Amino acid sequence: MPTSESLRATWPARILIADDEPVARKLLRKVLEPAGYEVLESTSGKEALACARSDRPDLLILDITMPDMDGVEVCRAIKSDPDTHLTPVIHITGQTDRAQRLEALAAGSDEFVGKPFDIEELLIRVRSLLRTKHLTDHLVSSEAVVVALARTVEARDHYTEKHLRRVADRSVEIARKMGISQRDVEGVRLGGLLHDVGKIAVPDGVLLKPGPLNEAEFAQIRMHPETGAEIVRPLSAFDGPEPAVLHHHEHFDGSGYPAGLRGEAIPLAARIVAVADGFDAMTTGRPYRKALAPVIAFERLEQGRGTQWDPAVVGIFLDAYAGRDDEPVAAEVTEGP
Ligand SMILES: [Fe+2]
Repeated sequence: MPTSESLRATWPARILIADDEPVARKLLRKVLEPAGYEVLESTSGKEALACARSDRPDLLILDITMPDMDGVEVCRAIKSDPDTHLTPVIHITGQTDRAQRLEALAAGSDEFVGKPFDIEELLIRVRSLLRTKHLTDHLVSSEAVVVALARTVEARDHYTEKHLRRVADRSVEIARKMGISQRDVEGVRLGGLLHDVGKIAVPDGVLLKPGPLNEAEFAQIRMHPETGAEIVRPLSAFDGPEPAVLHHHEHFDGSGYPAGLRGEAIPLAARIVAVADGFDAMTTGRPYRKALAPVIAFERLEQGRGTQWDPAVVGIFLDAYAGRDDEPVAAEVTEGP
C-alpha cells in the first residue's frame, strides 16, 4: 500500500483542473496541493484549451461534461496539436458510462478517474503520468539537440536543412506505402533526419576535399555511420533512428559498409533511407559536380536496383515519384567554400 509520502510529487508539476462545478475543482485542489502540485483551474472547455496552450501545464484533469466545449473535444484538440500532444490527460467520468469512456479513449485520453474520487488512486495515476511526461520532455529535448547537430553537419557539408527534410519526408512516404507500423515510421523519420550526423567527427579537410580521397581519408568518411549510431543511441526510447543511421550505406548485394550486410538482413529503415538519401544526393548540386535531372536519377536508381538498393523499396519510390506532375525537383546548387 503506498504511503502518503510516496504519493507526493517528486518534481514541481503544474496540473490544470477543468470542471464547471466549483465543488469538484475545490475537492481536487484540496487533494493535489498538499501532494506538492501547483494547481490551475478552468471553468469551461474553451478556457481549459486556451490555458493548456498558453500556460503549458504538465497534466490536465478534465471533466467530460462542460457547457461550451466538452472534455473529449478539449482532449482531441490537445492531442492533435504538436505543441501540446505530449501533455497527459485524465478524464473524470461516471463509473458506468462505457460509451463516454470509449469516446474519450479515441480522442487520446490517457487515464480515467471515476466519481466519487478515490484519492489514493487519483494520486497514483497523476504521479505515474507525470513521471512519463518528465521522461518524454527530457527525450524530446535530447532529440532537438541531436537534430540541431545534424543540421550543423549538413551546413558544413554544403547541403541545406532542406536535404534532411526531404530525405525524412520521402523516407516516411515510402515507409507508409510499405504499411509499416506508426512506431517504426517514427524510427524511419528520425533516421532520415539524422543519418549523416556522424560526419560531425570527420575533419573539414576530408569532408570538404574537392578532389578524390586517399585510402586513409576514405576510411575516415566510412566511420560516420558508427559514430552517428553512438550519437543517436540515447534516443532509442523513440524506437530509434539507430538502425537507419548505422546501416544507411549497406548495399543490398552485401558490398556496402559498415557491416557488409546483405538483402533483408539490412534493417528496413536503413534500406528505405538509403533510397531517399541516394536520390536526393544525386539531384542536389555540389561544389564539384552539377545536380542530375530527376529523370536521370530515376534511371540510376533503376540500374542499382537489387545491387545497391532494395528492389522493393526502389519500386515503391519510383511508383511514388517518377512521372508525377509534382516530380521532385531537388536540384539546389550550393555554393562552394
Ligand atoms: Fe551517409
